[in-house]
Amino acid sequence: MTSRSTECRQIAAQLTAPGKGILAADESIATMSSRLEQAGVTPSADSRRMYRELLVTTPGLSDGVSGIIFCDETLGQVLSDGRPFAQAVRQLGILPGIKVDTGAKPCPGLPGETITEGLDGLPARLAHYAEIGAAFAKWRAVFTIADDKPSWGSIANNANALARYAAACQEAGLVPIVEPEVMMTGSHTIQRCAEVTASVHAAVRQQLSLQHVDLAGIVLKPNMITEGDGSPERSTPEQVADATVQVLRAWPAELAGVAFLSGGQPPERATANLEALQQHQTPWPLTFSFGRALVSPALAAWGGDETRYADGQTALGVHVAANAAAARLRRDLQSA
Ligand code: G3H
Repeated sequence: MTSRSTECRQIAAQLTAPGKGILAADESIATMSSRLEQAGVTPSADSRRMYRELLVTTPGLSDGVSGIIFCDETLGQVLSDGRPFAQAVRQLGILPGIKVDTGAKPCPGLPGETITEGLDGLPARLAHYAEIGAAFAKWRAVFTIADDKPSWGSIANNANALARYAAACQEAGLVPIVEPEVMMTGSHTIQRCAEVTASVHAAVRQQLSLQHVDLAGIVLKPNMITEGDGSPERSTPEQVADATVQVLRAWPAELAGVAFLSGGQPPERATANLEALQQHQTPWPLTFSFGRALVSPALAAWGGDETRYADGQTALGVHVAANAAAARLRRDLQSA
């Protein structure tokens, strides 16, 4: 094994350490700007920077967070005290990560479906990010469920891109977070979500193997298995956990860990599902890599108002603590 593989394995284990999870604060400039606007904050490079500073300086953050995913803009910015973001979070004992895909774009030939782009020039960008302190990276492939979707073409294209990204990351000494997201949008059943997610994962596993990606040096970031957000059903946390673990069982034991996205679930539901997931014995740790389920309450509580800065941090702290406690249940169960 090369020293880079050993390093990737260590970082992946650190990211999924017992009772810790990942904070996804990597919204693109456009997405972040529109979320700030909705919260009543004028979007600008500085308001995006201030908001990310609020997140990373939340007291006690490192008790429940092992890594934070940033976007390119934030990784090039500095905190009010002049320290670059990557350096500041490393000083807290948190690993900095970087979203390296350039977004899901309409896929020629597959109307209504997307291909996530960003492979061109990727090795040089990864080398740069590693040099400025990043320890891991993220790439998100997106699949939407409809009667005839996702197509096999979309699954094959995106699985191939995810695997090529993952191989490039490991060559650069960065741990790839591999995120195949089957969206909650739609009125599909939980069974349909399970079938689609299983097909997507099978293609991703095959491509990762063809690209010689070391599964012990990646973190899988899947969706939980739920019904669509337009469905009249509402599965219990136990049903979500059972269906999710059943799909994940196809992954080999050597996979370093699984860190779920929240996918637009209300924060409390995402946490309850994460708790229920810990009741299952799995060969890999199951934790969180939530975006909205962690940061939406913080953004709403702050609202760009200086006098409510601490309220924003309290809201983030409360949600991180709840999810870290959920992830910690696994260790407690195992040591019981
Ligand atoms: O790519 C998506 C983010 O990393 C996770 O976001 O938890 O809001 O789905 P989410």
